[in-house]
Amino acid sequence: MPGVKILLFYLIFYGCLAGIFIGTIQVLLLTISEFKPTYQDRVAPPGLTQVPQIQKTEISFHPSKAETYEPYVTNIMRFLEKYRDAAQKDDMVFEDCGNVPSDYKDRGAFDSDPGQRKVCRFKVEWLGNCSGINDESYGYKDGKPCVFIKLNRILGFKPKPPKNETLEGLPMLKYNPYVLPVQCTGKRDEDKDKVGNVEYFSLGNYPGFPLQYYPYYGKLLQPKYLQPLLAVQFTNLTMDTEVRVECKAYGENIGYSEKDRFMGRFDVKIEVKS
Ligand SMILES: *[C@@H]1O[C@H](CO)[C@@H](O)[C@H](O)[C@H]1NC(C)=O
Ligand SMILES: *[C@@H]1O[C@H](CO)[C@@H](O)[C@H](O)[C@H]1NC(C)=O
Ligand SMILES: *[C@@H]1O[C@H](CO)[C@@H](O)[C@H](O)[C@H]1NC(C)=O
Repeated sequence: MPGVKILLFYLIFYGCLAGIFIGTIQVLLLTISEFKPTYQDRVAPPGLTQVPQIQKTEISFHPSKAETYEPYVTNIMRFLEKYRDAAQKDDMVFEDCGNVPSDYKDRGAFDSDPGQRKVCRFKVEWLGNCSGINDESYGYKDGKPCVFIKLNRILGFKPKPPKNETLEGLPMLKYNPYVLPVQCTGKRDEDKDKVGNVEYFSLGNYPGFPLQYYPYYGKLLQPKYLQPLLAVQFTNLTMDTEVRVECKAYGENIGYSEKDRFMGRFDVKIEVKS
């Protein structure tokens, strides 16, 4: 009979252990949301990144030699794939958010109900001369390279444009209260006049990111989210010299750091060879 007692003892003993274990896991799971990370190590401000990205941050090519810029064009085409009309057909996922900049689009709380949220369409045609519609080389064959800029996605982040007054001294920027402005200039003083003319193409042709694309609801609720794009074209770069261009987003909650080269800005070296 002692065998039965021992068996009974272990049965209860292991049963209790399993109970404690499962209980602890359950409590832990309760504190974790599937939709919003409890801790984000990358809170605002977000980074800016550019396309094409081949050799990190250098673009160098001969306009007359297609093979020298082909990698950039391929990189851009692949990147713009998800922005094509054909990829945004599904009305259950996408919606039109207008073709002028407007205010943040709140889509409710950041948890499950009511399930997936819609995503604003972004039309490639807004990118004008950088859309690839009239020029399949995105300006590279004419020595007028296009660069595409996006703000890295951060769940729940609402970029805050600067107040109108703080933009004085930056006369190039066309002001709109619903656009987070971006400006590209020469990085160093000696680059300033080599950059030449810069054209900006985006929704409504404002140089920046329209606010109706924010906030972003995360991978689970907006799996097909499209970041608004800004295309920048350098139409009169000084040739045969490496020009360092810095593009910077201006906003009340956009920070810059000397350590992190992509926080709120980036710089890229461009050389057009003759
Ligand atoms: C776009 O390209 C066309 C043809 O090259 C040119 O005439 C026009 O001025 C360009 N538009 C802008 C805004 O640069
Ligand atoms: C912004 O400021 C400029 C002059 O500094 C003014 O002409 C313009 O109307 C202002 N825009 C808005 C939307 O307040
Ligand atoms: C391009 O830049 C050069 C100086 O680098 C200038 O002389 C020329 O007028 C500019 N062209 C245009 C169309 O702006």
